[in-house]
Amino acid sequence: MAFAQDLDKKDPLKEYRERFHYPQINGKDVIYFTGNSLGLQPKIAKSYVDEIMKDWADLAVEGHFFAEKPWWDYHERLAKPLAKVVGARPAEVSVMNTLSVNLHFLMVSFYRPNQKRFKIICEEKAFPSDQYMLQSQVRFHGFAPAEAIIEVKKREGEHFWRTEDVISKINEVGDELALVLIGGVNYYNGQVFDMAPITKSGKDVGAFVGWDLAHAVGNVKLKLHDWDVDFAAWCSYKYMNSGPGNASGIFVNEKYLNQKDIPRFEGWWGTKKESRFLMKPEFEPIDTADAWQVSNAPVLSLAPYLASLQLFEEVGMESLIAKQKVLTSYLEFILQEIDKEVDSTFEVITPRERGCQLSVFLHGEGRALFDYLMKNGVITDWREPNVIRLAPAPFYCSFEDMYNFGQILKQGILSK
Ligand SMILES: Cc1ncc(COP(=O)(O)O)c(C=O)c1O
Repeated sequence: MAFAQDLDKKDPLKEYRERFHYPQINGKDVIYFTGNSLGLQPKIAKSYVDEIMKDWADLAVEGHFFAEKPWWDYHERLAKPLAKVVGARPAEVSVMNTLSVNLHFLMVSFYRPNQKRFKIICEEKAFPSDQYMLQSQVRFHGFAPAEAIIEVKKREGEHFWRTEDVISKINEVGDELALVLIGGVNYYNGQVFDMAPITKSGKDVGAFVGWDLAHAVGNVKLKLHDWDVDFAAWCSYKYMNSGPGNASGIFVNEKYLNQKDIPRFEGWWGTKKESRFLMKPEFEPIDTADAWQVSNAPVLSLAPYLASLQLFEEVGMESLIAKQKVLTSYLEFILQEIDKEVDSTFEVITPRERGCQLSVFLHGEGRALFDYLMKNGVITDWREPNVIRLAPAPFYCSFEDMYNFGQILKQGILSK
């Protein structure tokens, strides 16, 4: 305990713990491990939402142009801080819709199959929404999912994907490959895919390469521009702490910006601001990723996202990642220590290439242990058959939380 407290004292991010709201269980702040699902609410989020509500009350339609942060270009405020988080140029980033919707929209531009080149490579057991999205896109273009979607498998007896297997699959499919679309961090095992070489290999065989960054954004180092990724999308409610079901971000490589003839589903919020209200019939794409915006921006949901980005601006990804590495390693150490004291065995199935998340097989334990943890103030999640996912987000989780979690885990097992 003293060791954990000492690490907390030395933690340069320790004051950020106070900047979030915590659910209470048994009168105490919970130990929150589900930042990979829904991040905690930053305390400043409410004031950003209240500001919009007040402007709406006071100004009504005039708020579009005369609010303190005018609504018609409100979304533009998010691009610069977000670009830093994902390693992009601000022009390459926009915020709109929700994640699965954006992946569909981006596939309009980046999945352009023909009879020869129509195959898609993804990881086996991709997040279900991605599977449905890919299958429906393939069918929409008149191909059969079983033929067009190639899943990269893990090796027998292994819990992770090997980069060389992804790359050799890309080379094998070669000139039939239209698109590589993989989750940058896998939702189940927490693995960070080696995005730079995979992107390069996909592009070397002439395919487009996109990434679903739901579990990567705000969690791991991203350099989308330098890696020459074609497109990416992410949700904002996990490590980005923007609120339930909130808006998604997109990345479109700058080489596709400012193109009139790129296939794209268009709407009035993607046309140039200067001429938008002339209500002309021709679409003139904005010269940033905003050209992919279809509808006017959902300002009320962008407000908490902007608030959260302010915290990312203050802290920077470098220091979040630096803390995350130590915090997650400390959690792993705690698990190893408790493992020695109980009969059950914990198998961390997350490989070394990881962000916050540790996915742990609880051999010898069942759902009852998960229920015990929840009742005793540990919010985590359970995936069949008996895996718990623990994602200590560095913004608001402490080393003492990890220690206390270990004690509760031990009690839960010993009290069976
Ligand atoms: C990897 C991944 N892809 C896609 C989604 C779907 O997100 P949305 O419901 O915002 O479209 C999620 C949601 O958790 C996810 O984890």
